[in-house]
Amino acid sequence: MEIVFDAVSYVYGQGTPFAKQALSRVSFSLPSGSAAAIMGVTGSGKSTIGQLAAGLLFPTEGRVMVDGVEIKRKNPHLTGLRRRIGYAFQFPEHQLFEETVRKEVAFALKGRGLSPEEEEERVIRALRSFGLDESYLARAPLFLSGGEKRRVALASIFVTEPELLILDEATAGLDPLGREAILTHLAHWYEERKPTVLYITHDLDEALFLTDTLFVMAGGSLIWHGKVSDFFSAYLFESRMRHRFEDAGLLPTPWLEVLMTLVDCDRRALERLPRNEDELARWIDRHWKPREVRDR
Ligand SMILES: Nc1ncnc2c1ncn2[C@@H]1O[C@H](COP(=O)(O)OP(=O)(O)OP(=O)(O)O)[C@@H](O)[C@H]1O
Ligand SMILES: [Mg+2]
Repeated sequence: MEIVFDAVSYVYGQGTPFAKQALSRVSFSLPSGSAAAIMGVTGSGKSTIGQLAAGLLFPTEGRVMVDGVEIKRKNPHLTGLRRRIGYAFQFPEHQLFEETVRKEVAFALKGRGLSPEEEEERVIRALRSFGLDESYLARAPLFLSGGEKRRVALASIFVTEPELLILDEATAGLDPLGREAILTHLAHWYEERKPTVLYITHDLDEALFLTDTLFVMAGGSLIWHGKVSDFFSAYLFESRMRHRFEDAGLLPTPWLEVLMTLVDCDRRALERLPRNEDELARWIDRHWKPREVRDR
């Protein structure tokens, strides 16, 4: 699903003493089938973008179009559009409201003409793909641990196989193993189905692992967006941009520092960048071992 923002501004509590401008004239267009990360420090406007793209907020000014449907009040096409979008709230508590996990995950399947057996099978499959077995079906979502809530919230989104996924800090509050399991699941899902993805995160590693496009927010403005390879070029070769990225919270982890040093040595490497530490090790092997060592 293509997403187009045209000079979009958003003010929370407009016309009240608590009015807060969250976005200022944000413009971009993201082609269908792209996976984009939205990054930026706390309060920079990431979740607001996600909620506008999900049709949960309406722009104060400007236009948001998702798959050709304008996100505006009283648009009769919005209901149909929302059914094709999976939106994971930043705080899973905001999303969970049913009394059992089974009902929670099955909720979005209502009205889709499935038999009870098909529904149950899809609920179990979705839970399993996030590492939860059938023993969770009868449990109450609100009494689960933070990590379990996150998994149930994700299962209840993926169960409908949405064409647009908007995930707001999907791995926050998970332990490292849980985080890795979810990232791997997301990467496979994307490879297989090529949905459009907006992945909101504070973590540059996660962004680079999952996505090909980056959006960088600061103070409600989109200060940069482009392909990952262009991000590295800007980070490496434009010191002004590097400072702006760092101010926006895009700090490289050690493996990224290594990668950037290597890319700095050979700009051709920008074309096929590794996406995590293991890939970096293989990539160094391939690109940087002197020929005589490789051939020995
Ligand atoms: N419901 C609300 N009412 C008033 N102001 C709000 C509301 N939600 C967000 N804001 C303000 O709008 C701005 C952007 O918020 P947003 O939630 O989009 O930021 P964010 O980048 O997602 O931050 P975080 O990384 O902390 O989740 C912030 O200044 C925030 O305080
Ligand atoms: Mg947020």
